[in-house]
Amino acid sequence: MKTKYYIRDNMLKEEELEEIIAAYKAGEIIAFPTETVYGLGANIFCDEAIKKIYHAKRRPMDNPLIAHIGKQEDVEKIASLIPAKARKLMEVFWPGPLTIVLKRKELVSSLATAGLDTIGIRMPDHPLTESILVKGDLILVAPSANLSGSPSPTSFKHVKEDLDGKIYGIIDGGNCEEGIESTIIDLTEEIPLILRPGTITKEEIEEVIGKVAFDQALFTKEVVKAKAPGMKYKHYAPKAKVYIIKEKEDIENILTEVAKSSLGEQTKALICFRENYGAYLALDFTEKIIIGDKSNIKEAIRNLYRILRDCDILGIENIFIEETEEKGLGFSYMNRLKKAGSYNYLKRS
Ligand code: TXA
Ligand code: MG
Repeated sequence: MKTKYYIRDNMLKEEELEEIIAAYKAGEIIAFPTETVYGLGANIFCDEAIKKIYHAKRRPMDNPLIAHIGKQEDVEKIASLIPAKARKLMEVFWPGPLTIVLKRKELVSSLATAGLDTIGIRMPDHPLTESILVKGDLILVAPSANLSGSPSPTSFKHVKEDLDGKIYGIIDGGNCEEGIESTIIDLTEEIPLILRPGTITKEEIEEVIGKVAFDQALFTKEVVKAKAPGMKYKHYAPKAKVYIIKEKEDIENILTEVAKSSLGEQTKALICFRENYGAYLALDFTEKIIIGDKSNIKEAIRNLYRILRDCDILGIENIFIEETEEKGLGFSYMNRLKKAGSYNYLKRS
């Protein structure tokens, strides 16, 4: 299949917009930009289109999809019960990077929800995608537009790398502002439960609806019991072996690890915060990459997947990457980093 590209920074031409909407309605799958990562969209009411998503991404069939809406009242079309706390969250955080899990209506395909009686819903904050959802009166289910297991795409180029030739089209909406997937909160529980941390933090949510908890699966490597089925799969992983290192303090340990003959001959990248760069000047790496300011974790989050993908393209075999404190946004950053690195902390002597 020859994938069509729709390349516009801010606006799609009227005829392109109509073509995209018609294609979704006819059961085609098209990747679209959001503020978090790119999504691979299918009409929620078309099972044939949903099957194409699982096939193109090589996604396990037990991993449900998030529904993307363009107007708040569309929630009523697919959710059977909308608690007051859910409405408050929608008012404050939508459009934005927050997915709300609610009881679903019967008419929602169980292919989309992988057989669950709930559905995750969010209203993405991106003008191009909003125009498609609103003008087409569409609800699109969409996972991230990457091959299962690889880092989520934060640009048009990333989607092309993974899915070119496998899907009907890709819409270019520039680089994603947030850079990691939305925060997922389950509102079907007595105490709302955060299933996946994102750039909307637990603290920000609690300011709006009071106490919420983290799914315990977020604190263990053993994620078989995760309430968000997707959290149990290997995720976001680059091809390189990843070593998670302490800021600056690990230089001796890096030298010890690199002195192992096998590593010495291999390509190595260092990924660190701007403030710490100077500490590594004497070390010999194939690449030294600054991920962002330590004082601004949002920047590091925005860059993380892009840098992991760049390392793949550069043929990097080993990545040494600095950790940060698991608080606030740092918790979300470390959630993705630990998965990308299979929890592989550099051994300390
Ligand atoms: O930011 C995002 O959320 C992006 C953009 C495209 O919107 N989407 C995204 O989708 O990250 P995906 O499919 O890569 O991840 C969806 C996650 C999976 O871990 C899945 O198991 C979980 O959401 N999920 C979906 N529906 C669920 C439900 N009803 N209950 C619990 N977890 C659910
Ligand atoms: Mg994904």
